Formats: sequence, C-alpha cells, structure tokens
Amino acid sequence: MKIIALNGSHSGTHGYTHFLIQKIFKGAAAAGADCEEITLAKLKINLCKGCNVCHQDKHLLHCIHDDKDDVAMIFAKMQEADLLIYATPIYVFNMSGLLKIFLDRLNSTGNSNDFRLSDSGKFFHHISKDIYSKPFVSLICHDNFENEVSKSVTTYFSTFSKFMDAPLVGTIIRRSGKITGYGKNPEKELEYPKIIESYRAIEQAGEELVQQGRITRSTQKVASQDIIPVPFFSILKHFAGFKRKAIEKLREE
Ligand SMILES: Cc1cc2nc3c(=O)[nH]c(=O)nc-3n(C[C@H](O)[C@H](O)[C@H](O)COP(=O)(O)O)c2cc1C
Repeated sequence: MKIIALNGSHSGTHGYTHFLIQKIFKGAAAAGADCEEITLAKLKINLCKGCNVCHQDKHLLHCIHDDKDDVAMIFAKMQEADLLIYATPIYVFNMSGLLKIFLDRLNSTGNSNDFRLSDSGKFFHHISKDIYSKPFVSLICHDNFENEVSKSVTTYFSTFSKFMDAPLVGTIIRRSGKITGYGKNPEKELEYPKIIESYRAIEQAGEELVQQGRITRSTQKVASQDIIPVPFFSILKHFAGFKRKAIEKLREE
C-alpha cells in the first residue's frame, strides 16, 4: 500500500503536523506500507486565478500554471497513492491557507460542463477520479481545548468525500498539543499521560489503515481524546464555572 500525506502546515517539517504524520507513518510502515510526505510549504503552489481556461474546450483540464509550479507533480504522486492523508493545523478556525490554495487547484481537474451524479447521488460534474477519488484520512491539529475549532474542516472533508467519490476512512483531531511540548519535550509529556496514549493510538491508526483500510472508531477516539489530566474534563469543559476556574489556573501558570 502506498500512502501519501499532504502536509498543509506553513511550518513544514518543523511543525506539529509533521510530527503527527510521522506517528501515523511509523505504524503504517511497520505494517508494510510505503509512506511519503509531501510538504506543501517546500513547494511552489500558485493561486488559482479563477480564469476558467481549464474549462474551455481548447485547454480542457489544463491549468495555466501546469508547467510553472509543482502542482502537476503533486497530482502525479497522488495518482500513485492507494490512500491519502490531508493534514492541516487549524489557522483561525479553518484549514491552513496553504492546503486550501492547493485544494483549489483541484478545480482544474474536473470538466464542469460534463454533468454527472457522484457515487453518493450529489449533482456534480466530471472529476479526475485517478487523482483524489480514493480513501483518505483527515489529520487536524490545533491548540484550543474546544472541539468546535475544527468543525469547519471536518465539515469540509465530509462534503469533499461525498462529491469527490473519496471514502473518508478516518479523522484524527489532536487538540492542545502545544501544552505538552509538541512532541519535542518528553519530560513535559509525562505530566500528560493521555498524550502518550494518543500518540500510541495515532501509530496504531497507521497500522489499521494498512491492515483494515480504515481507522477504527475506538482508535480515532483515543487518538483524538482530551489530554488535560483532570478527571471528566470532556464533560466539565462545558460548564461555565469550571471554565472560569480553568482560565484562572492557566493565567497563574
Ligand atoms: C496563523 C495561525 C492561526 C492559528 N489559529 C488557531 C485557531 O484558530 N485555533 C487553534 O486552536 N489554534 C490555532 N493556531 C495554532 C495551531 O493550530 C497549532 O499550534 C498547530 O499545532 C500548529 O501546527 P504546525 O506546528 O504544524 O504549524 C493557529 C496558528 C497559526 C500560526
């Protein structure tokens, strides 16, 4: 199995997104997968100009940037993959600008004049199935404790899945990685036993992708769990009084 992860972090291989991709890869490689990370921050990805040249008969499915940046190369690599991972940090409640700029370029790979129904029955048009209509995982990280912060991205990928005929085979959301040292401070991690459990589950997710073609619900749950060492934090965090006290404590630290 060939797995390709698209790392949308602007911090590239220095960021937490990269750290989490490597955790999935560790499990997947141990189970026999061939894994490759494409670090978008290292590549040239021009903005879609919205010129629609790619939808005109003369240039159908050819983008004006095709020989001027790295997107055609990335598409060629995606064609070789059996499974894709779209990995992004949350930037102001959404995916990174870089990942979105890249995903906008998918527009040039579909013939919008050729109407079709998607596999899930949505009105759409021709798409280049060989590039992105394959099982995929969304891997998201952010600092805030609140689940709502990543909602726009989980909704995006659920919609993407339905229109692009791409089965969503797992979602991992790693919240609050920063307070545990971003995977770079093992001593700090000892204060947060659940982050170690989460990292183990993320490795296991990689294994499951190879062995079962998807990440089990239980593994997604452990990988994405709250890691604050306060009993019942996931319930307590919904209460205003608890939140006020937590904020006071955070301010003291
Ligand atoms: C421009 C920018 C905006 C951010 N916005 C949010 C946000 O809205 N919510 C949040 O929880 N974290 C936010 N963060 C924090 C990142 O999501 C978090 O630190 C993430 O782990 C960074 O991953 P990276 O190291 O791979 O870039 C933001 C970071 C940056 C640089």
